[in-house]
Amino acid sequence: MSEVAIQEFFTENNMEYKKDEIEAIHGSLYKNMDERLRLYCCDLYDFSSEFESGLQAVWDRGSIIAVNKEDRRKYIEVLRSVCAENARYLVEIFHYDKTKYNGPPHCLDGGYCFSIQIIVKVII
Ligand SMILES: C[S@@+](CC[C@H](N)C(=O)[O-])C[C@H]1O[C@@H](n2cnc3c(N)ncnc32)[C@H](O)[C@@H]1O
Repeated sequence: MSEVAIQEFFTENNMEYKKDEIEAIHGSLYKNMDERLRLYCCDLYDFSSEFESGLQAVWDRGSIIAVNKEDRRKYIEVLRSVCAENARYLVEIFHYDKTKYNGPPHCLDGGYCFSIQIIVKVII
């Protein structure tokens, strides 16, 4: 995650922010002034429910398909640890014939402790 992207988010939304360095995640926490909006800048694998938990929703645009397949389980374990039991997970994925191309972006075809409901399918 880029610090620049986080700073631009606050600028574009005309919000003041404060920043704390968090040694345990080798990264930073950006918060708006009432601290209801919190953006962490760190390697996801350093993150855990020690910092946030009970999240109701995740929007993953291009992340799980970017991580190496051998790291996918670790990625999912982190998400499960910070999400509520009934959290919704909106994810944009690629699905293709792996005999013809093996990524990246990587093909996601289920079997990872969550069920997939297709909302929109775009053939490219
Ligand atoms: C293809 S980019 C997608 C960026 C952005 N979400 C978008 O849709 O334009 C892949 C993104 O996955 C995220 N990502 C992958 N592995 C990560 C990790 N270990 N820790 C934090 N972020 C990670 C990073 O935010 C990276 O920018």
